[in-house]
Amino acid sequence: MTVTEHDSTSNSEGTFVDPAGAHARVQQGSVSAREAAFARRFGPGDSDGPWNDTLAVQFDHRSVRRFTGQSIDEDIVRTLVAAASSAPTSSNLQLWSVVAVTDRDRVGRLAALAGDQDAVRHAPLFLVWLADFARAERIVTARGLDLHNADYAESTLLGVIDATLAAQNAVVASESLGLGTVFIGGIRNDPEGVAEVLGLPPRVFPVVGLSVGWPDPDETAEVKPRLGFDVVCHRENYRIDEQDHGIAEYDVRAEGFYRSQGLVGSWTGRIVSRLTDPAAFGPRRGIRQALASRGFPFA
Ligand SMILES: Cc1cc2nc3c(=O)[nH]c(=O)nc-3n(C[C@H](O)[C@H](O)[C@H](O)COP(=O)(O)O)c2cc1C
Repeated sequence: MTVTEHDSTSNSEGTFVDPAGAHARVQQGSVSAREAAFARRFGPGDSDGPWNDTLAVQFDHRSVRRFTGQSIDEDIVRTLVAAASSAPTSSNLQLWSVVAVTDRDRVGRLAALAGDQDAVRHAPLFLVWLADFARAERIVTARGLDLHNADYAESTLLGVIDATLAAQNAVVASESLGLGTVFIGGIRNDPEGVAEVLGLPPRVFPVVGLSVGWPDPDETAEVKPRLGFDVVCHRENYRIDEQDHGIAEYDVRAEGFYRSQGLVGSWTGRIVSRLTDPAAFGPRRGIRQALASRGFPFA
């Protein structure tokens, strides 16, 4: 099956082949869509390999924090949640839920709880992704049993991973429809406050929020460069001491990108400030207690 070129890459002239022909090459024009997408993300260098519409959407990802005022139709909301539901889930237990919030007052209260972020306040749709053991507890207790295994740290991981995979599927679905999104970890600043706003029962924890909306065309945020292949991908065994060169190379690329966005500093500088100063985690330093009080005790 031949698929069409993703239209966001203007300078490509390729013919595209779907993953069924995974080893088929993009027929090169002057600059292929793949080459342009790789250069944006990793700098120049990559030349050829498979390409299709799915990869184009994934490579085009950028967080969007400013939206037009346009609302999102209910059929789109249902499609995003259906895409989320289609994500893999551990043992098919489906230990996640999502609350879709459009009420302006409720979105505003969540924005305030999440560090007063405009990217939440002005989103027409705010999705709160939940690790959810309340549904399982209802099923188990109806049979007169105890949800014993929910207390293990492994269960917390199951719920958090399930919720995160579902959320990321919704991101890709959104972007494929031309919507913009940004994850909002700020909702973990005050999990109890979020639980109150959303009416969450015990054994439900808000893992991450997702602002969804039609991108404001005036927003200048671009596709953000990432660490190169050799830094993040190890072959057969992990090697810490072979990453320095790639990290230094990325620091130069990232610094140039940040500068182009009117921001200062390097990537390694961000690692240092974010991961050495306890204040950088703000109230989330207390997340263990917040998890425990919501019914995720890490036994
Ligand atoms: C779990 C998670 C939580 C995040 N929380 C926030 C947030 O609270 N506010 C925000 O503006 N961006 C947030 N982001 C977006 C990241 O800053 C963004 O993904 C990162 O800088 C990379 O940029 P990109 O998504 O445009 O490639 C979050 C991302 C993730 C994955």
